[in-house]
Amino acid sequence: MRAVDIIQKKRDGEELTREEIAFLIRGYSDGTVPDYQISAWAMAVYYKGMTARETADLTLEMAHSGDVIDLSPVHGVKVDKHSTGGVGDKTTIALAPLVAAAGVPVAKMSGRGLGHTGGTIDKLESISGFSVELTREQFFAQVNRIGAAVISQSGNITPADKKLYGLRDVTATVESIPLIASSVMSKKIAAGADAIVLDVKTGSGAFMKSLDDSIALAQAMVDIGTEVGRNTIALITDMDQPLGFGIGNALEVKEAVETLRGEGPKDLEELTLILGAYMVMLGGQASTVEEAKRKLEGLIQDGTALTKLKEMVEAQQGDSSQIEDTSKLPMASELIDVTATADGYVTAIQAEEIGLAAMTLGAGRETKESQIDLAVGIVLRKKIGDEVKVGDTLATLHVNGKDAAQRETAIARVREAYQIAAQRGEMKPLVYAIVTKDGVQRF
Ligand code: URA
Repeated sequence: MRAVDIIQKKRDGEELTREEIAFLIRGYSDGTVPDYQISAWAMAVYYKGMTARETADLTLEMAHSGDVIDLSPVHGVKVDKHSTGGVGDKTTIALAPLVAAAGVPVAKMSGRGLGHTGGTIDKLESISGFSVELTREQFFAQVNRIGAAVISQSGNITPADKKLYGLRDVTATVESIPLIASSVMSKKIAAGADAIVLDVKTGSGAFMKSLDDSIALAQAMVDIGTEVGRNTIALITDMDQPLGFGIGNALEVKEAVETLRGEGPKDLEELTLILGAYMVMLGGQASTVEEAKRKLEGLIQDGTALTKLKEMVEAQQGDSSQIEDTSKLPMASELIDVTATADGYVTAIQAEEIGLAAMTLGAGRETKESQIDLAVGIVLRKKIGDEVKVGDTLATLHVNGKDAAQRETAIARVREAYQIAAQRGEMKPLVYAIVTKDGVQRF
């Protein structure tokens, strides 16, 4: 077999065999197929696409390129959740204890972030002492004992995807549905989940800006899950504005805690409940979404979910008094209000711009080596649909010692992210559609 023939076949729009895909991915992993040939192949895929079968073969090949976690020591149906990434998305921190409290084990490996804010692991490290590194045995034992553990991805998970994703990033081939779908699903399969709930973001702050593309991506991922025997569903949810109010690591932990107290922002609460309800259903602890949702609401109201978060924090050596009293979490030294310069209604908040402003303040990493400041970030005071008058605070920056130019950049970015118009505009739903193996239901 020769890589050049496989590239040509894909360039001409033909379907590759399992063996051809394996040849490319294994060759790329062991260095016998060079970067430039994989780049050409990725661009051919970008233009010509892949069939469901090819996409599933690529996924499995990448999933088995490194360690595959065997979660069988954990009792029960293990349900994983994945978000395609959004600004202010702290749902995992609320979902893990909430779903565990409903009897579904959550053995979750999460990542650190590059970009706007940290990843879930960085956010959890805002809690003093919280250990994200457990041995496999400690990880399994904790999930069996209390129902939930969230740890940093360790070991050699999907090295082929890591290498390919890095290459796609610099060859303009990230935005390809089969390549994104196989990348995400290979990691989920290698992480050992029995069932998977996907949160596919759509809108200005998402990979997929249009609803149709987001649905197509969701379908591709659900098809892969179905093909490899993992019950998979996907919700298409809004990322036309950040989720909740807080963007920044400790600020997001605070908001997740508030959500478990029943005092969180409406959109975050709604998303947590709906994603959680599907996790509980796939985990076999409820027979309908409505029943699962009622169960989760009850666990929030009676304090069980919050107690579960404290248990998880204590089990991972974190200071649970910071969950009890979130004012003990890291706090920035200075607050700066960004004010409105026009009267009207907020009609959009460019999530990406808000994320970049948070990064300027130090909430995220510009390079792998950057140090995150866990305390800093942005708290939105106005969201889509809210009325504003000149001088009203749109958002508050939480700042630690940046110079005047950096502050001005962040302020300008936040102000520009807000679109203010004379009319209130149409309110969009939080969940646009659900995709299962039986089809698409739009709301
Ligand atoms: N997230 C991933 O893990 N992979 C992609 O290709 C895109 C988003």
